[in-house]
Amino acid sequence: MKATAIAHPNIALAKYWGKRPGSARLPAVPSLSVTLAGMQTKTTVEFSRALSSDELLLDGERKSGRELARVVELLDCVRAEAGLSSFARVESTNDFPTASGLASSASAFAALAVAARAAAGLKRDLPLESDLARRISISSARSIFGGYVELGLQPVASRLAASPVAEPDHIDLRVIVAVVREGAKDVSSTEGMLRTMASSPFYDAWVQAAPRIFERVRAAIVSRDVAALGAASEHSALAMHATMVAADPALVYWTGATVDALAAVRDARASGVVAYATIDAGPHVKVLTTSTHESRVAAIMGAVPGVKRVIAARPGEGARLEPRERGAP
Ligand code: DP6
Repeated sequence: MKATAIAHPNIALAKYWGKRPGSARLPAVPSLSVTLAGMQTKTTVEFSRALSSDELLLDGERKSGRELARVVELLDCVRAEAGLSSFARVESTNDFPTASGLASSASAFAALAVAARAAAGLKRDLPLESDLARRISISSARSIFGGYVELGLQPVASRLAASPVAEPDHIDLRVIVAVVREGAKDVSSTEGMLRTMASSPFYDAWVQAAPRIFERVRAAIVSRDVAALGAASEHSALAMHATMVAADPALVYWTGATVDALAAVRDARASGVVAYATIDAGPHVKVLTTSTHESRVAAIMGAVPGVKRVIAARPGEGARLEPRERGAP
């Protein structure tokens, strides 16, 4: 009744921002991400009759409130599927900043979905794990799979799971994360999205435009066109942020260093370096580049005032059990 899983964050190249009206866990727009090696969440779940409630330890700290509530929500789904009644102890560690816009919730709920199902004695099933993770945090559905992963809009038999588009090495892509602040962000994605939906005059325009941007991103991946992929991804991120900034009150995740990092990316590109920016619901700038330009981009971003450190990441594999199941890829 105990299992450990590892999952990686993913970075959306075509962003998801907004939910389907009337549904807390269906996206309003399709999204496409790349799962990243180089940063990881490791989660152990143990169901035990000795426990009188579910427990969550995150990076060694006992958690309650909203964080625990989302974990309990996922565990309840697993208990219902497996016919279990016992509570669980969940222990999770991240090797990168938690809740800061580095997509930690994606790797967290992907690892939790895989570990919880396995601890409950359920067989591995990637679409079911993806659907389960999506019911708690939409972007985490994509971290179940490795490489390039899409999440559409239409549930099939009331399930909506992500699916793989291309293997990690399909394109020569590298991601340099410029960390501009350590510590948690002020407004969670869930809360920020609700505010945007309720008050941004640009939200409907975003929902109209996002599927076209998604198609551009997808086509660029299929045709292995890094420049087209970078341009479409940057457009997706900036269109999403423009929509958030127009919310009332405004949702500005950026700091001065974010703006300086964006300018550095533009300057690098003008001088012939492959560099395109993407930003999630946080201040960090993630730069898409190639293996040839990776070290140059890391040096450029590391020199931007206000950038605390850079993390080099590359497309990686999906969520998995540890030790690796026999016969697993
Ligand atoms: C900006 O999946 O964290 O990273 O579904 O409410 O849990 P909830 O939100 P979440 O939102 C992620 C938004 C994003 C873009 C993306 O990953 O597609």
